[in-house]
Amino acid sequence: MCGIVGYIGHRDAFPIVIKGLQRLEYRGYDSAGIALFDGNSINLSKTKGKVEDLKKKSKEISVAGTLGIGHTRWATHGVPNDVNSHPHYSNSGDLVIIHNGIIENYESIKQALINRGYTFKSDTDTEVLINLIEEVQKTEGVKLGKAVQIALNQVVGAYAIAVFDKKKPDEIVVAKLGSPLAIGVGEDEFFIASDASPFIEFTNNAVYLEDEEMAIVRLGKEIKLRKIKNDAVAYPNILELQMNLEEIEKGGYDHFMLKEIYEQPRAIMDTYRGRLLADQGIIRMAGIDQNIEKFVNANRIIIVACGTSWHAGLVAEYIFEDLARIPVEVEYASEFRYRNPVITDKDVLIAISQSGETADTLAAIKLAKEKGAFVFGVCNVVGSSIARESDAGAYTHAGPEIGVASTKAFTTQITVLTLIALKLAKEKGEFSGSKFHEYLTELETIPAKVEKALKSNDLVETVAEVYKDSTNCLYLGRGYNFPVALEGALKLKEISYIHAEGYPAAEMKHGPIALIDEQMPVFVIATKKGHYEKVVSNIQEIKSRKGKIIAIVTEGDEQVKELADHVIEIPETLESLTPLLTTIPLQLLSYHIAVMRNCNVDQPRNLAKSVTVE
Ligand code: F6R
Repeated sequence: MCGIVGYIGHRDAFPIVIKGLQRLEYRGYDSAGIALFDGNSINLSKTKGKVEDLKKKSKEISVAGTLGIGHTRWATHGVPNDVNSHPHYSNSGDLVIIHNGIIENYESIKQALINRGYTFKSDTDTEVLINLIEEVQKTEGVKLGKAVQIALNQVVGAYAIAVFDKKKPDEIVVAKLGSPLAIGVGEDEFFIASDASPFIEFTNNAVYLEDEEMAIVRLGKEIKLRKIKNDAVAYPNILELQMNLEEIEKGGYDHFMLKEIYEQPRAIMDTYRGRLLADQGIIRMAGIDQNIEKFVNANRIIIVACGTSWHAGLVAEYIFEDLARIPVEVEYASEFRYRNPVITDKDVLIAISQSGETADTLAAIKLAKEKGAFVFGVCNVVGSSIARESDAGAYTHAGPEIGVASTKAFTTQITVLTLIALKLAKEKGEFSGSKFHEYLTELETIPAKVEKALKSNDLVETVAEVYKDSTNCLYLGRGYNFPVALEGALKLKEISYIHAEGYPAAEMKHGPIALIDEQMPVFVIATKKGHYEKVVSNIQEIKSRKGKIIAIVTEGDEQVKELADHVIEIPETLESLTPLLTTIPLQLLSYHIAVMRNCNVDQPRNLAKSVTVE
């Protein structure tokens, strides 16, 4: 859950590494550091805090060099402070490393190194790794690449590393297991990064390392990959990336989160573009078409995911069961992987992940594959580990999501999963032609309806002003909108640090109703389609206990208006598509409350965008 950047070539490495780290700050932002090498001496600077602090601090030292590596950290071992920040030197001062991941057996290795006279400045597992590499170099008399390989075969854990050696000014050694690592290939220059955003303005050509692969990135030479375990040579697949610079900049918005909320009409359209062909009455998805028998004959679909992606999975459970009549179980990936689940070769496992790197989701996939299940990935990041590990999949095409709180990832995941459910429903004969056509044409209207829902922004801002100082909030929804209630509560918690809980509306009377008094804001999703009358009864129960009611309603609703303190309207749509609209005002609400509370919207405390540790 850290970001790593490296550069070797003919340019000044400092601005490239600093800018790259800023683009990767979503991956962790406890501390940051940089090491620059001019062929003679190494300039290393690191600090607790953000990349901006590092930039200021680095100005005080001489910064130059055409080789540089940098790191932005989400602390695992050792508190975030200057000393524990990366890069780390080896004891001789010749080797320097940056590392994203965890070395699980670092304590025993550290003890062995201490016995051999090594000393340690930090509490990190990474400093242990770089000294192990140095020890291998010394005892085996090998060059850096070989030493890295031997050392990595002794460690247990996860890593994406970049290491350089003062004695080898024209190379950086990189390796990957469990954490992402991309190499950007330019003309006489190479870039190294956790994702392609740090180098996209310099080159579109990238090589993504597979797990257990390493490479010696050497100036004047082509990249050669090796398998860490058996030294077999692997041939790099150079991909041409489609990402552009505009997608990863704020484009006039104050925060990435707001930009990404407003990108949703376009993102949803990009998700179904080329797949949803309403005029021809078909949905075309290669990953499903080629494996249709697996889905149609599946005993059940198991969905695994974490966080917001898990909420999208819950929405999918309703859609798959309701439309395609296929039994679905939705599991937290972290629980699923450790509870000895019953999985057979008649199961289809759908893994949902924006980043495609979430460690628990990745592990759940591996487990399901071992047991013979067919694995289908729904990811946003192209070429990510989950996308590669799956048997087949569908990208969401949301474009880079940089705000730590997921917004457009959620709605585009739901869009992909809806397309799949509709396709399976048709294939299984659950739908008449006209019903299928009705869904396709309605789905095509969703981007315009999201656009309309976004027009509630000013109203939502005034509601945010009223409730910004609340200490607790409840979110209620039923059916398709129960997961939206969970998602609304998660958004508020994670960026504004207000305690919030989501519940199925009818569950309120089994406990949470005890919390309701005149201080308690209750956000209720009460759309016309979907248990409307029942939700209205729940609203009445809240009102009679003097709770504050903020209702998300279908436009034109009069009944709830009578009861609620505030109503926010969304356009009418089919019940199964309502989550794509009801979620919009809840995203805006948490955004405005966080801004009003002076919280760091894009980089909330203690979080990171890509959770590559368990
Ligand atoms: C919440 C959020 C997280 C992620 C979760 C899974 O806004 O962003 O809850 O949804 O960490 O991440 P992915 O989807 O990358 O697997």
